Amino acid sequence: MKMDREILFPTPIYIKNLDGAKELNKELFKLIKAWSKKDKGLEKTNAGGGWHSPADMQTKKESKPLIDELFTMQHAIYKDYGMQPKPALGNMWANINYPGAYNKQHMHPNSQWSGVYYVQVPKNSGYLSVEDPRPGPNLILPERKEGLPKALWRVVNYPPSEGQLIMFPGWLPHGVQLNQSKEKGEKGWRVSVSFNFIQVGK
Ligand SMILES: [Fe+2]
Repeated sequence: MKMDREILFPTPIYIKNLDGAKELNKELFKLIKAWSKKDKGLEKTNAGGGWHSPADMQTKKESKPLIDELFTMQHAIYKDYGMQPKPALGNMWANINYPGAYNKQHMHPNSQWSGVYYVQVPKNSGYLSVEDPRPGPNLILPERKEGLPKALWRVVNYPPSEGQLIMFPGWLPHGVQLNQSKEKGEKGWRVSVSFNFIQVGK
């Protein structure tokens, strides 16, 4: 018997490794470290002592090269996902997860696309964990065999990678696992930048 399967209501996750990330990350690390020394930051999803900067990183001149990269990727996503006319950067902030820190599961309300850029990721500093956003499959969990394709998983963990930029819909539940790095001092910091994009000009 021939049987077709259609996959409806997909959850797009876009991943890109930036060229020239080494230089970019050096500058971003300098900015974020200095910022974290003079600003106590915000209490948001950051847990276990992690630092969450104020959400106005887009106003700092050192953010410009990264913002250009964010827009390049947003424009490619608009094309791929059939959105128009254009994205606008809502806000942007830095995160430092010191060893022992993590980010609680959350979503980004009022944001079309959200995401993360990795500045520094020591070994074992915590995967990005995304969950099936549909309520139904989380209520009734079927017994299934091993080895199913990723599109059928309930939770997918992405290992962070320096210079990698990830974008996903703001409604996708996600969190960051515990930083278990054994590195000493600032080498053990998991440093990233998060952001929200809205849609304008409709
Ligand atoms: Fe987030």
